[in-house]
Amino acid sequence: MHSSSLLLLSLIQGHALAHTFIWGVFVNGVDQGLFKGIRTPAYNNGPNSGGYSNSPVKNLTSIDMRCNVLGDIQAPDTIKVVPGDVLTFDWHHDYRNDSDEVIASSHHGPSLVYISPDPPTEDSFVKIWHEGLYEEQPAPLEPGKWSTTSNLAKNGGHMNVRIPAGLKAGHYLIRAEMIGLHEGEVSYLKNPIRGAQFYPNCVQIEVTGDGDVSLPEGVSFPGAYDYDTPGVVYDIYCSTDKKRAATATVPCTTTYPIPGPTVWSGAWAETTSVPLGEVSAPTKATPWSTWIKSSVVTSATFTDRKSVTVVGTSTYAAHWSEAYQTPAAASGRWS
Ligand SMILES: *[C@@H]1O[C@H](CO)[C@@H](O)[C@H](O)[C@H]1NC(C)=O
Ligand SMILES: *[C@@H]1O[C@H](CO)[C@@H](O)[C@H](O)[C@H]1NC(C)=O
Repeated sequence: MHSSSLLLLSLIQGHALAHTFIWGVFVNGVDQGLFKGIRTPAYNNGPNSGGYSNSPVKNLTSIDMRCNVLGDIQAPDTIKVVPGDVLTFDWHHDYRNDSDEVIASSHHGPSLVYISPDPPTEDSFVKIWHEGLYEEQPAPLEPGKWSTTSNLAKNGGHMNVRIPAGLKAGHYLIRAEMIGLHEGEVSYLKNPIRGAQFYPNCVQIEVTGDGDVSLPEGVSFPGAYDYDTPGVVYDIYCSTDKKRAATATVPCTTTYPIPGPTVWSGAWAETTSVPLGEVSAPTKATPWSTWIKSSVVTSATFTDRKSVTVVGTSTYAAHWSEAYQTPAAASGRWS
C-alpha cells in the first residue's frame, strides 16, 4: 500500500473513532428517548460512503459551526421544559450505554453550552455554561484534567445545564459543544490536517410558563470563534513538553482561556446533577448514511492527509429558515 493510502486510511479511521454526539436528553433525570429533539449530525466513515464529512468541524467560517453537519434539518420532535429544569445531555460515540468511551481519550478540551431563540439570528447564541482545564498538569508530559476527557467521558457522557430562571416561553435551540484540542497547537487555517476539532450539537426545546426574561445579545455561529480567539489555538502539551515548547507558535501557558464570551449572568451559577432514570431503548443507532434519504444532497471535499490532494467531492447547502417552522412529523424528516 502506498504511504499516502495508509495515511488516508488512518485519517478515515481517525474520523470514525473520534465522533461524539448527543444520543438523548434527560429532563430532571427522565430520559426523553433516543435522538428525541436532537439534530443528529450526519457523521459517516469517510469518502467510501460518499457522504458529507466536515466532521469534526474545523473550518470556523463554515455554517456547520452552528449545529454541525446538516444542523439546519429539524428533528421531528421538540423537548418541552420550564425554567429551572435540569437538562442532562447524554453524549456518546458508538452506543448509548456505560461501556461507550463517549469521546476518544486523546480529545482533551473544553465543553460549552449556548442557548438561542429558534431559529438563530445574528448574535443570538448566549453562553449558559462552560468548563475547560480544571486541574493543571499533575506530571510532566501530561495534559492536565479537561472537561471533555476527565469530566464528561468519566461521567458517562453526562453534560448538565439548567434552563435559565424566568426565561420567556418560546422555541429555543440549545447548542452544546465539545472541543478537542489534541491537534490544536496550530490553526486549521495554517494547517488543514490539524487544528482544533469542534463537536457542536443542537437540541430543540420549547420553554413554557409565564417567564419574562429575554436573552441578551449573544454571539453568532459561525462567527463567535476565529483562529485568533484565545483558546482556539492552544497546545495542551506545550508547558510540559520541552521539545514542543521550543517550536510552539504561541507562548506556553498553564491556564486555558475557554473560547467565546463569558457565561451570561442570567444563567445558573451552578447546576446540581440530578439522579438519572433508565435510558429508553434502543441504545444503538444505524449510521446516518443508511437512513438518510437521497433527497438530502450532501457535500464534502475529501483530501489525502499527506499532500492534501482532493480525492472526492459532493455538494450540500444548508438552508436555515428565518422564521420558526413547526417540525414535520417523524415520517417526513428525511424525505
Ligand atoms: C471554510 O468555509 C467557508 C464557508 O463555507 C468556505 O468558503 C471556505 O472555503 C472553507 N475553507 C476551507 C479551508 O475549507
Ligand atoms: C453496550 O452496547 C454494546 C453494543 O450493543 C454492547 O456490546 C455492550 O455490551 C453494552 N454494554 C453494556 C454495559 O450494556
